[in-house]
Amino acid sequence: MRQVHVALGSRSYDILVSRWLLPELGSHCRRLGFGRRCALLTDSRVGPLHGRVALRSLRQAGFDPVLVSVPAGERAKSIRHLADCYDQLAVHRLERKSFLVALGGGVVGDLAGFVAASYLRGIPFVQVPTTLVAQVDSSVGGKTGVNLAAGKNLVGAFWQPRLVLCDLETLKTLPDREYRSGLAEVIKYGIICDPTLFRRIEQRMPAILQMDSLELAWVVARCCTIKAEIVSQDETESGLRAILNFGHTVGHALEAITRYGRYLHGEAIAIGQMIAARISQQLLGLPPADVERMERLFKSANLPVTIQFSKDQLQRLCAAMKLDKKVAGGQIQFVLAERLGRVRFGQSVPWSLLITILNAPSGLRDAPRCRRVAPTCLR
Ligand code: NAD
Ligand code: GLY
Repeated sequence: MRQVHVALGSRSYDILVSRWLLPELGSHCRRLGFGRRCALLTDSRVGPLHGRVALRSLRQAGFDPVLVSVPAGERAKSIRHLADCYDQLAVHRLERKSFLVALGGGVVGDLAGFVAASYLRGIPFVQVPTTLVAQVDSSVGGKTGVNLAAGKNLVGAFWQPRLVLCDLETLKTLPDREYRSGLAEVIKYGIICDPTLFRRIEQRMPAILQMDSLELAWVVARCCTIKAEIVSQDETESGLRAILNFGHTVGHALEAITRYGRYLHGEAIAIGQMIAARISQQLLGLPPADVERMERLFKSANLPVTIQFSKDQLQRLCAAMKLDKKVAGGQIQFVLAERLGRVRFGQSVPWSLLITILNAPSGLRDAPRCRRVAPTCLR
């Protein structure tokens, strides 16, 4: 079993990475000294697949769990389902010493985390992520929340879990497309700060795609280690943590204008990362060879790297980007790469360059080269 520590003083916790952790959920929770009553929050797809093992494990460890289920998919991250969850916890009399277990992907983790952050002004929670996106990213670091009609993740809180259990075995039931979507976040860690990880993924993509358990354990633990280090230095994203948003400015906007129905999160983020790479090539001199390696790697995971926008889509994309939380003083802030493994956050990008690149998705080599702008922030 691999163990990663997230060092946050009194809010510190461990991430455990291994196969067959779900049957041990109860005993791991018992060590944390929670009260007997708990809720297992899951969704309509994950519940039937893994809920029974989780509930049995909790009961065997002496807990008294209730099952709370939300519909599968992004729509569960809403004020409506948040209110339903509060009602269920209240009906089942969960108290301050009670705890919540989030069993599912990033949607369940973000929703459950915010329920835990706000119900009775905060109760403890445990993350049991069952998608690759959730195991390498969303379950770690304490960002929780729900979406509004106006945009993604606009209501939320920082609320750290008490434990994260990444059971690699649960990924076996994940649809292939969802699994590959998670690889976009894995590749992101290589780009933002670990060229060795990037190279290893390049070399071992076939084993990763086949979910080779040794390879997968190494990759998941490495990504969690990187995230843990970043979060330990900047829990609430006052600076460094922003580098985790590489590719997300365009990616989130793309998800929003396609109403979360066309692209999976990782797919949108793959396209967003390639657009950020092309902007980086223009503004920070990211070597074209690095851009090509990124594109090849995303393609080898069968992820999309380009999109042809219509005029109307482009307008809606720009409007959606302006709503992003990363907007500061009306200026959209990008994370850009200097080279593989080194990025800068807080980079203002001229609208004219952004539009040029969005209009020439794969043709950066053809796009006019801009004058370099001074970095506003350096990692
Ligand atoms: P998701 O939670 O919607 O899961 C994807 C689909 O897979 C769902 O239909 C789900 O029911 C199903 N599923 C989950 N695990 C399964 C399994 N083991 N077997 C079979 N089916 C399974 O999506 P996601 O990609 O995990 O997460 C995306 C969400 O995470 C977005 O809302 C995004 O904003 C959020 N996110 C948050 C953070 C953060 O730091 N908090 C980081 C990244 C993403
Ligand atoms: N997924 C971005 C973050 O946790 O900061």
